[in-house]
Amino acid sequence: MTIAEMQAEIIRLKKEKDVCVLAHSYQTRDIIEVADFTGDSYKLSTLAATVKNRAVLMCGVRFMAETVKILSPEKTVYLANPAAGCPMAEQLSEEDIVLLKKKYPGYAVVAYINTTSRLKTHCDVCVTSSSAVEAVRRLPQKDVLFIPDCNLGAYVKRQVPEKNFAFFSGGCPIHARVTARQARAVKEAHPGAPLAVHPECTPEVTALADYVGSTAGIMKFARESDAREMIIGTETSIVQHLAFEFPERRFYALTKELICPNMRLTTLPDVLGTLRGVCGEEIILDAETMDKARKCLDTLKG
Ligand code: 13P
Ligand code: SF4
Repeated sequence: MTIAEMQAEIIRLKKEKDVCVLAHSYQTRDIIEVADFTGDSYKLSTLAATVKNRAVLMCGVRFMAETVKILSPEKTVYLANPAAGCPMAEQLSEEDIVLLKKKYPGYAVVAYINTTSRLKTHCDVCVTSSSAVEAVRRLPQKDVLFIPDCNLGAYVKRQVPEKNFAFFSGGCPIHARVTARQARAVKEAHPGAPLAVHPECTPEVTALADYVGSTAGIMKFARESDAREMIIGTETSIVQHLAFEFPERRFYALTKELICPNMRLTTLPDVLGTLRGVCGEEIILDAETMDKARKCLDTLKG
């Protein structure tokens, strides 16, 4: 089948089987084109909760499909490729978080949305990379245990110096490996091009950026900027999406290593196969997990 034939069949099956297809912004163009919604994980799960469809198909990683299921418990939720997981979401076990909470009694436990639903059941507040600074600023507690990404945590700490932070030394293996040296080199190669980076990058890299924000924030920054050239310090799919949106402008990847292998796992044949019922995985969570993780996720409403 060609890409176009496969996309046409996916669009037909979505309708026939009453399925809403979600694609995280790190998915490839062929998948984005057949999705009903594209965006960051929280935006996708809130949008999925508003649609009338019987089922939802998530093209992204496992914690995102779990978030969709928790916010839409009445819908059948599928993950298009069951092998796609976010390594950061699984860096802390339940035993680890129980020990950390003992070590930091009385601290507000703040979970980045990139965590498993089981981990969220132990946390007080959930944040995204867009909401983290404001959410932490609003907390009544002065002491904050921020998990699992210490780079995002360090970024929040710089914006909210009045709080006292404890971190777990986790993070995104893809964003965290970008070096300040690489950032300086790409800036030298493209003088005048603003550098936009994700806060999952290290403090040494975010310190060199003209803009720091979530994937949605970086895309908004690019849309609103009149710069002809821009350097993008997040997953390289964003470079491609911006190039399609603004073909007259130039977007450069901070480094070609900024590729998330888990996000790349999902393919257009996986989307078709899941709709045909030959692959994909239905997300099943027990009632206690759904209930407790939902309380944590509900704090995202602000
Ligand atoms: P956003 O919430 O910025 O979309 O980030 C998701 C992610 O996995 C970043 O690596
Ligand atoms: Fe997880 Fe990093 Fe991949 Fe995002 S880019 S899904 S945080 S491993």
